[in-house]
Amino acid sequence: MSRSIPHGGRLINRQNRDLNIDGIRYEVELDAFALSDLELIGIGAFSPLQGFLGEADYQSVVQTMRLSNGLPWPLPITLPVSSEKADALPVGEKVKLVREGVVYGVLDLQEKYTPDKRWEAKKVYRTTETAHPGVRKLFERPDVYLAGPIELLNRPEKRFVSYHLTPVETREVFARKGWNTVVGFQTRNPVHRAHEYIQKTALETVDGLFLNPLVGETKSDDIPADVRMESYEVLLQHYYPSDRVFLAVFPAAMRYAGPREAIFHALVRKNYGCTHFIVGRDHAGVGDYYGTYDAQTIFSAFAPEELGITPLFFEHSFYCQKCDNMASTKTCPHSKEHHVVLSGTKVREMLRRGERPPKTFSRPEVAEVLIKGLKKQTVVTR
Ligand code: ADX
Repeated sequence: MSRSIPHGGRLINRQNRDLNIDGIRYEVELDAFALSDLELIGIGAFSPLQGFLGEADYQSVVQTMRLSNGLPWPLPITLPVSSEKADALPVGEKVKLVREGVVYGVLDLQEKYTPDKRWEAKKVYRTTETAHPGVRKLFERPDVYLAGPIELLNRPEKRFVSYHLTPVETREVFARKGWNTVVGFQTRNPVHRAHEYIQKTALETVDGLFLNPLVGETKSDDIPADVRMESYEVLLQHYYPSDRVFLAVFPAAMRYAGPREAIFHALVRKNYGCTHFIVGRDHAGVGDYYGTYDAQTIFSAFAPEELGITPLFFEHSFYCQKCDNMASTKTCPHSKEHHVVLSGTKVREMLRRGERPPKTFSRPEVAEVLIKGLKKQTVVTR
């Protein structure tokens, strides 16, 4: 049995397929971001949250990275609507949560409040610049937050059916495999050699690796999730022992909140049953908004037992031509010109042109899938 205890002590389950919504007069249209949050609250991935944050918890989370009961929680999970919409919804009523004609859940509306978004941006993202994709998203979304417990009636369309598991299910899988210790890996990218290196280095000391790519909303130049999923399958097939790795999706939206999001990613993976979590360089970062290792140092703001999951930190990793091996700034004595380091933007450009990055950067089978997948995407979107 996995030794990880869910955040707050128990897994939340707000799923209710038999929910009767007939008499509910009010409804709110969700954006993709809110829909993914609804699902993740409902299935318990965001335990101990039972709904969208009320004002006291919101203030506390933004200010102190803790819920008002003191439990670590670094990102506000909120449900924004326009002020006209909010005015039309009475507190105390149930509200259907809808997207494109489908009712996905119900909110028990307990509060409405208007946040200071500049303050939220400054605290959560450390910037108010709208060039930051997380900040832009925050400012673009409407101005009043609705709060209260939710119930999840339907899960959104499952694009990756066999990889779409709840925390209860992943915990069962880990137990069945006999894994006591499991390291979680968050990614919004294809898995390149540096990722593989840190995953396998971590796997040397634990029972299993949980490859848990984020497949919710990402910024438009990130590689689409369906292309990535195929690349993970091919990678695992060729380069990983099948009894030591488990792949499932994390259907969350990407916030690009760097350090705070690293804590959030770790807590959520604890809920999925992980005992360890990898944090490398620039985790969940974007542009130059965060220092290379800020997402690691932030862990010292909490006592280890408060987080209940052990972070495994890795320095910048790469292939070194002199070592003739994968290495990191911690283990390689050679200077930069011997290191194969390519930026995400550069690699995406190469792949879109149909060019394979060097084998020392990306496994050829992975590059092949990405090139084909991106070509198809270009044809479809044109
Ligand atoms: S993230 O936004 O999901 O964090 P990415 O998919 O690039 O982005 O990273 C996944 C994980 O691998 C993160 O923990 C990140 O810090 C780590 N990572 C990515 N590239 C490297 C690298 N070259 N060296 C060390 N760690 C890395």
